[in-house]
Parts: sequence; structure tokens; C-alpha cells
Amino acid sequence: MTKRVLLIVSGGIAAYKSLELVRALRRRGVAVRAVLTGSAQQFVTPLSLGVLTEDHVYGDMFDLKEEREIGHIQLSRQADLVVVAPATANILAKMANGIADDLATTLLLATDKPVLAVPAMNVRMWHHCATQRNLAQLRADGVHVMEPDSGEMACGEYGKGRLPEPEAIADEIERLLQTPFASSEVGKPVRQPVLDTREPNGALAGRHVLITAGPTHEPIDPVRYIANRSSGKQGFAIAAAAARAGARVTLVAGPVHLPTPPGVDRVDVETARQMLAAVEGALPADAAIMVAAVADWRTADAADQKLKKDGSGQPAPLALVENPDILATLGHHAQRPALLVGFAAETQKIAEHAQAKLARKGADWIVANDVSGGVMGGDDNSVQIVSAQGIDVWPAMPKDQVADRLIDRIASALSGRG
Ligand code: CTP
Repeated sequence: MTKRVLLIVSGGIAAYKSLELVRALRRRGVAVRAVLTGSAQQFVTPLSLGVLTEDHVYGDMFDLKEEREIGHIQLSRQADLVVVAPATANILAKMANGIADDLATTLLLATDKPVLAVPAMNVRMWHHCATQRNLAQLRADGVHVMEPDSGEMACGEYGKGRLPEPEAIADEIERLLQTPFASSEVGKPVRQPVLDTREPNGALAGRHVLITAGPTHEPIDPVRYIANRSSGKQGFAIAAAAARAGARVTLVAGPVHLPTPPGVDRVDVETARQMLAAVEGALPADAAIMVAAVADWRTADAADQKLKKDGSGQPAPLALVENPDILATLGHHAQRPALLVGFAAETQKIAEHAQAKLARKGADWIVANDVSGGVMGGDDNSVQIVSAQGIDVWPAMPKDQVADRLIDRIASALSGRG
């Protein structure tokens, strides 16, 4: 079935790139209906957008003909995804505060569909604490926010705030359209997946939380790899909980089949070395929670061609080398996060092994989990928090509750209360 995007273009110099975005989406078979804010019409004409979308372009809330024919509520719900690109600081501020003073912002308030905002603005406007506060609020509300690019700006300044390339935005839109919570089943609230029905609390507003999750795959040859049984569920639940608490969340994920939680910036990687590079690239962070089950070893030399049996009955020799330890690297990093949390999957002497890891890796806390039962891949977890202050044993509970409780504890520690 054709996927439909409602594209809201707000008024910034990057608005002209919305034309290229529409073309990229149409090439991918996505139907686009466009809405232009009043100021966007200074940069792009409804005519050019109308030609490219092959549809009527909407602009004025009080165009009675349109209201009678379609209605703003209907317009906001006929798409599978609502995209605001470019999203100016002004429209982000309105969205964060629920202001609905034109058609675009009214649609954003009325929609029950997932929303992707793609900000573009001057570097100082981007870094302004008001904009960052609004973005934190939007992420906590479940809006997916794409990070702007860095580079030279139309105004001559240099820095972060450029609209990402239309192809990159189209990639992100395609990814969101494929996640289960972006489906458009009639009458079903779709912005939040089932896990995310709790209220956002803002306890981590303004903080950057970096999380690793899932396994890593270490190639042996083009068709085989070394891996482990991690499902990524616990790490993804923690990322969702951190986003609900208002944090900017970077989730570095190994190969898993899980949808990105709302409001989370996800970086997909495959190997331990890629995971380390992505983690270091995401610094600085206020807190880092290393939940990934990183493969301890990789092959010394992955083969370019598939390894074949040679008929001797002897297996191909596999020389292994140790992977970098990402948690330990962060523990001794010049940009070490203020709070560094590791996980330790253990089958015996749980607290004892966790204490040894705490010291060895330079972490503040180790969340030790007993994986002797069915934890790997299951929905429940049984953990103990090991720190220099002692050991806190939590009862067995669902992984999303472990996530909420851990995020509460992290928020308290960062605010100096814990
Ligand atoms: N970890 C990491 N990089 C690695 C190995 C582990 O960042 N190369 C992190 C994990 O994400 C986790 C913690 O270290 O937060 C502990 O992982 P674990 O596999 O239990 O520890 P190991 O050091 O591999 O210890 P062992 O396998 O000997 O128990």
C-alpha cells in the first residue's frame, strides 16, 4: 500500500530543499501532501510544490472551501507520518507549547500520527537554550527529531543547523514509515508504541544520554559471523525511558529487530569497533549506559571470500583477537561522562564479578543481571545495582520497569540528589 506523508514546510531559507525532498520521496513511491506556512510561501510557491506533489497544496486555515471539503482534522490524520521540514526555531517553539495559530500548527496539534521534525536554522538559534529546551520537550512528547548537519550556513556563519540533505531526510522518513508504530490503523493511537503510555516527567531535560544496546556481529567471512544472544530489548527500553524523561538520547544499536523508540536518535552499527567509533563520535554526554553485549573477540582477519571446506575434515583455523572494551575506554576517556553505567551479564557470583568489573572498567555503577534463567530475549529482568556505595538488589520485574527505575536513579544522581 502506498505510504503517505503530510509534509509541513515552515519558512526558512532551507525551504527550497523541500522541493528536492518531495522528488526523493516520490521516487521512492511515497505520496506527499504539502502544507506551507505563511512565511514558507516567501521561499517556495504553492505552484511548484503542487506540481511536484501532484496534489493541492494547503496553506490557509481559513480557506473555507478546503475546510468544507476536507477539514483540518481529517487532513492531519490521512497521512502515515507527519514531517516538518524544514522546521524553524519558531515552529518548534509553537509545537513544544501546543500553540495552534495557523493551519500547519493546528494540524500538528490535531494529528494522532507520528511526527518527524527536521530542524534547520542559524547556529546560534540552534544552540540557544530556548530551542534546546523546546527540542527536549518535543522528544519527551514522542516527536522524532533529526539532528541538523554542520557546515557553512546561508547567513555566512559556520556550525550546526543546516538542513540535512533531502536524500538523508527521505532515508529517515522511509525508516520511520517501516516501524510498527508508524502504521495508520484507523482509530488506533499511533504516536507511542505500547511501552510508552506513561507520562513524560522532564527529569532529564537538557541532558544527553548515550546508550549502547544489542549484540555486535564480528564477520568471519561474507556469510558468517560471531555473535551472542542479546535481543537489545533492555537497552531499547532504557533509551525509551530516557527520552520520556526529556533527555536527548543517542542509541548506538547493534544488529537487532526492534523499532526505534520515539524521540531517540539511533545509530546502527554491526561490529564492536564500529560501536566504539559511534560512541566516541556521540560524546560529550552527561550519562552513558553501556547495555550492549559486545563480542569479546573478533577474527584476526575476516576473509573476503566465503571459507570452503577443503575435504580434509579439519575446520578452517580461526585466529581471534580481543575487541576494544567500549565501557573501559569511556571510563578512562578525556570526555568521560559524569555518570558511567555498565551492565554485567553473569550466571554465577553475580555481585562479586560485578564489583570486579566496576573497578576494572572505571564505571560508576554496574547493573548486574542474572542471566542463568531466560533473561536473554525475555521480557523480565532481575538486576542488582553495584556501586562504590554498596549493592542494591531489585526484585525481578519487566525490562521496561527496570528501565524506568534506572532512569529515575540516573536523574537523581545527575541532579546531585542520589
Ligand atoms: N563491554 C564493552 N565493550 C566490550 C565488552 C564489554 O563496552 N568489548 C561492556 C558491556 O556493554 C557491559 C560491560 O562492559 O556494560 C560488561 O560486559 P561483560 O560482557 O559482562 O564484561 P566482559 O568484560 O566481557 O567480562 P566477562 O565476559 O569476562 O564476564
